[in-house]
Amino acid sequence: MPTDSRPFNFSAGPSAMPLAVLEQIENDLLSWQGQGLSVMEMSHRSDEFMQICQQAEQDFRCLLTIPEHFKILFMQGGGTGANAAIPLNLSQSGVVDMLITGHWSAHSKLEAEKYAKVHTVFSGAQDNYRSIAPIEQWRFSQNAAYVQLCSNETVHGVAFSTLPDLAALGLNAPLVVDCSSDIASRAIDWSLVGVAFAGVQKNLGPAGLTVIVVREDLLGRALPICPSIFNFELLAQHHSMYNTPPTWSIYVAGLVFQWSLAQRDGDLTALAAIEARNQRKASLLYSAIEQSELYYSQVDKAVRSKMNVPFFLHNPALTTTFLQQAKQQGLIQLAGHKALGGVRASLYNAMPEAGVQQLVSFMQQFERSHA
Ligand SMILES: Cc1ncc(COP(=O)(O)O)c(C=O)c1O
Repeated sequence: MPTDSRPFNFSAGPSAMPLAVLEQIENDLLSWQGQGLSVMEMSHRSDEFMQICQQAEQDFRCLLTIPEHFKILFMQGGGTGANAAIPLNLSQSGVVDMLITGHWSAHSKLEAEKYAKVHTVFSGAQDNYRSIAPIEQWRFSQNAAYVQLCSNETVHGVAFSTLPDLAALGLNAPLVVDCSSDIASRAIDWSLVGVAFAGVQKNLGPAGLTVIVVREDLLGRALPICPSIFNFELLAQHHSMYNTPPTWSIYVAGLVFQWSLAQRDGDLTALAAIEARNQRKASLLYSAIEQSELYYSQVDKAVRSKMNVPFFLHNPALTTTFLQQAKQQGLIQLAGHKALGGVRASLYNAMPEAGVQQLVSFMQQFERSHA
């Protein structure tokens, strides 16, 4: 298929990659920089791979303006692995606090309960995760080892517009953020964060790599049962090379970091330009939903995700036809998560504005023909 006729891919993850990155991979596949071997054939200890890995780390730090007192770790295990790694590294006091805003934070809770006592600060389960309770209603425990939240709920389409300032609330506990589905989509205020983690398979690359950004003073607290490959201190000491890292995923993520940095636009930093574009894409789609009599969103306007937009048809019997016709028009992987059904459009960084414009035109045309 010619590259100019590739469909627009709205998958929630693994998801669309920037075309320029795929072309670079194709170019490098058999012989990286004319060396006669593919990156996936290189020893992780080779000078060539070490250079790829160091560059990736440097570019990631630069893209997200991560301060020097945070370590960047390249790990395996995905978001689910990190859900275990966090309590295994940080739950020394035995109690952890969690904000439950949807499918993924509920998963984090289940995993953490294997290692610690989990206190729920609040849960949105009662209103089917359509909103986030105001901060006045949050109930923290007194002695939590950390407080964890998911900044963007990929399934329910609920996002924190800003991270809470725990210190301002009188808490000493570090904030842990699962930002798997909004990392690098907007700026992070690192002064509020203890640990941020993300599987890269949405905004930053292929599945297989998990990035952990951890404040240095939080290293060295792992429980004795923590597996070596999840031990943040060990990973930091070995520059993410305690064992064989996911070399191919690191290489591809490195290319995505470079692509992301190249999105710089005039006076805007790369991340600010990406954020502005994401804002435009989300506004376009949400206003099309608002103006329609066929589609609706269940999510409270104040907490709507700019990355994952779940929406529904008032006549659910039309959903299958909607998805089939969308696919025929080159708009693919739009089915909602199995827990919710309906439609979900994921608008990650690699989704061009033209893709959202085409989706909105299709939605309007579909509505006209089913009025
Ligand atoms: C926000 C969030 N956290 C965690 C996960 C779990 O990630 P993984 O499938 O890499 O284990 C996902 C997966 O989609 C996610 O969206």
